Amino acid sequence: MMWRAAILSKVVAVFLPLLLAAGFALAQEVWDEAAAVEVNTELNRPALIEKGRYLAVLGDCRACHTAPGGALYAGGRAMEMPKLGIVYTSNITPDIHTGIGAWKLEEFEQALRHGIGRDGRNLYPAMPYDAYSKITDEDIRALYAYFLFGVAAVHEKPPENKIRRTMSPRWPLKVWNFLFVPDEPFAPDPQQSATWNRGAYLVQGLAHCGECHSPRGIAFQDKAYDETEKGFLGGGPVLDGWQAYNITPDPDNGIGLWTEAQLIQYLTTGHVNRLAQAGGTMAEAIENSFSQWQDEDIAAIVTYLRSIPPVRGRERIPRQRRGNPATDVVIKRGNLIRRDAEPQNLKATSDGARLYLGLCATCHGVDGTGSRDGYYPSLVYNSTVGARSNHNLRQVILEGVHRETAGEVKMMPSFARHLSKTELEKLLEYLRRQFAAHPEQGSVPRDN
Ligand code: HEC
Ligand code: HEC
Ligand code: HEC
Repeated sequence: MMWRAAILSKVVAVFLPLLLAAGFALAQEVWDEAAAVEVNTELNRPALIEKGRYLAVLGDCRACHTAPGGALYAGGRAMEMPKLGIVYTSNITPDIHTGIGAWKLEEFEQALRHGIGRDGRNLYPAMPYDAYSKITDEDIRALYAYFLFGVAAVHEKPPENKIRRTMSPRWPLKVWNFLFVPDEPFAPDPQQSATWNRGAYLVQGLAHCGECHSPRGIAFQDKAYDETEKGFLGGGPVLDGWQAYNITPDPDNGIGLWTEAQLIQYLTTGHVNRLAQAGGTMAEAIENSFSQWQDEDIAAIVTYLRSIPPVRGRERIPRQRRGNPATDVVIKRGNLIRRDAEPQNLKATSDGARLYLGLCATCHGVDGTGSRDGYYPSLVYNSTVGARSNHNLRQVILEGVHRETAGEVKMMPSFARHLSKTELEKLLEYLRRQFAAHPEQGSVPRDN
């Protein structure tokens, strides 16, 4: 009898948890189905889903909610928040357990426009709900329809956030929201054209240009959410290593000298000869979002950007008008010394120049004016090289550039492993000295 009892207890020990687990799974499924019934299925309409798909492109939900190499909208991308720690983006596919498959329209609306999660917790503002608060009710419905009924469900749990202990309570966000976040959807200005209003709606809201391009206050809030507030789009802080420039119409500090055609070309391809190329987070936004916009929406944001108040800064020469082609590198190539060079500067300059010759000149040209067809851009008259701070130039060298639009790929390799710290500083110093200098008369590079 004893052995029977022993076996029985073993059987129970093995099977009971299994049975319980099965029962649990069954209960969970019943519960899930009940939960899924609650969702707003009346919005499951093809035209609305399609509209929502395009709005998701305008809002660039993909950039944050898709991890590198991960499934579309399954989240898990790490986002660094200054002073707080790392937040992983949520799975926003309609999976019931790990995504938003059981969410009702109101819950979705609360998350998007007010930063409140389903469990009532405040979301971290790494999710740009402060900008999305401008989204209209109608567009919220379409986005909901797309994410609940137009996206493939992916069962995947993003990693746990890594937030500093002292900063982990979320309630201060309520105060932050109260103080800083606009809580009215966009209201069109009847004095302005429909195109202007469309542009304003997109720039302030879905496209959230200000999240990167507007200055931040002491609590890291956006200082300005629209053109009526001081500093709007006047240049942002360093985020993920990149700094977004002043894009107001100021001719010296912003993009006032850009033509409309150049702005359109930049936003849709990321490349304008002898002016600017997009790297880092802007390259991503162009790849995932702006390059897929309808022409009239791009035109609308250009109209709006042209009309906002210029934000002045300290520049008197625009960043894309700086620099001189290198005329002395050919001599340096043969290791000869320029006769008029000042001996105390020579070592530093020539080290940087040699690094330039060795690493960069094959593509950007010995004199720095790029390739004839413009594929390899000129570093003279280049907004990244000429910018007042060298954050982006440093990032370009460390990360390289990778951007794909309409099937065309732009690639510059990363040099992080080829340069020591001091070499990087020397190279930067040379690039700034040569290609970000006060332009000399007649130094304009050829029109490639
Ligand atoms: C700049 C990055 C970024 C963009 C762009 C972005 N999100 Fe988010 N989103 C986040 C982060 C980060 C979180 C998680 C915040 C947290 O955990 O507190 C989040 C959370 C959410 C949540 C809450 C999910 C949950 O389980 O609580 C929803 C819903 C959501 N995002 C939808 C969207 C939609 C729809 C779009 C596009 C219109 C979008 N997001 C664009 C970063 C982003
Ligand atoms: C996720 C952050 C981010 C968002 C969102 C963003 N930008 Fe940018 N933008 C940048 C960064 C970073 C640069 C600098 C890129 C570089 O140096 O290669 C940049 C560069 C630019 C430039 C080129 C300026 C110059 O002088 O070279 C323009 C124009 C621009 N952005 C317009 C926009 C507009 C319009 C929007 C919204 C529709 C927008 N950006 C949204 C990060 C962003
Ligand atoms: C193999 C060719 C190649 C080499 C080598 C190379 N680049 Fe580039 N570089 C490119 C390409 C391609 C682009 C992107 C052009 C575009 O975006 O349309 C680019 C873009 C740039 C930009 C503009 C990016 C932006 O975000 O504004 C800068 C600045 C730059 N390179 C500097 C350098 C420096 C400095 C070196 C040497 C350390 C270097 N490059 C080496 C090919 C190269």
